[in-house]
Amino acid sequence: MTTAAQEAFLREFHARHPAATSNMMSHGRAPDGRSSYEILRDHVAGQPRILDLGCGDGFLLDLLAKAGHQVAGVDLSSADLALARQRPSLHDAPLITGRAQELPFPDGGFDACVSHMAFMLMPDIDQVAAELARILVPGGRLALILSSGQVGGGGSYELFQKLIRPALDGAPPEQRMPSLGDRRTLHRDGIDEILVPAGFSPVAWTSEPIDLGGTAEQVWSRLSAIYNFMPLDPAVVQSIEQDFLARTTELADSDGRIPCTMNVRVAVADRGEASG
Ligand SMILES: C[S@@+](CC[C@H](N)C(=O)[O-])C[C@H]1O[C@@H](n2cnc3c(N)ncnc32)[C@H](O)[C@@H]1O
Repeated sequence: MTTAAQEAFLREFHARHPAATSNMMSHGRAPDGRSSYEILRDHVAGQPRILDLGCGDGFLLDLLAKAGHQVAGVDLSSADLALARQRPSLHDAPLITGRAQELPFPDGGFDACVSHMAFMLMPDIDQVAAELARILVPGGRLALILSSGQVGGGGSYELFQKLIRPALDGAPPEQRMPSLGDRRTLHRDGIDEILVPAGFSPVAWTSEPIDLGGTAEQVWSRLSAIYNFMPLDPAVVQSIEQDFLARTTELADSDGRIPCTMNVRVAVADRGEASG
């Protein structure tokens, strides 16, 4: 699958499902009560100028701007960027439709870069790392939230993964999503393999279980905003939804809340004084 085809898929998905990621992840909470967006915000506290790479609808940029940072965002999706531009906190922020592989910013223009659930989707990731090293100041910080790419998690998330697997495996070729990004982003050694040659330190790497629980309908609407569903036959997705809603009833607590835990990775690195 070519880079252009992968990017066309992402643009189409986000045009059809604007704000899909923030609708899902802004409800999630780590054990300490923070959302995954707040975790990234806290990793760049004290850094004046921050770029959000693959900023989507600007949920994280809004948190950063409200915390007093000077922010900018770049994303492939003009549909999501249009939503970001509607946020009052971002009226003066550069929000640019563009590619992470060729960032439209000057050398050393940022003290930090954050990227929430986007880095693992990007092809030509070594080029992205080189671009990040270029636009960050020496000593600048990079903080990433990455999908774990693992089956697991907890509660209804495992059920969801179990229910979608046969549909995805059995889908005809024209109903399969392209393989996106670089598999090295799924593990710590792979991230170091990408970032260290570009001039970054080895990453500090942690896992965070994110609680996405709620009513069965809320959990379904959060989990079902996934790339794999877009090309699938809608009748297949509907049948998975019915199964999911029926089978989660037995997981509900006395308030009707369904548990759902998704694991994400947090990777933080600093750009060396001389980039590689
Ligand atoms: C899963 S969404 C996350 C959006 C946002 N960061 C959030 O968490 O709410 C991934 C985003 O990365 C963007 N993206 C993927 N590859 C990109 C690339 N090569 N350059 C710029 N943006 C990219 C997509 O358009 C999409 O908006």
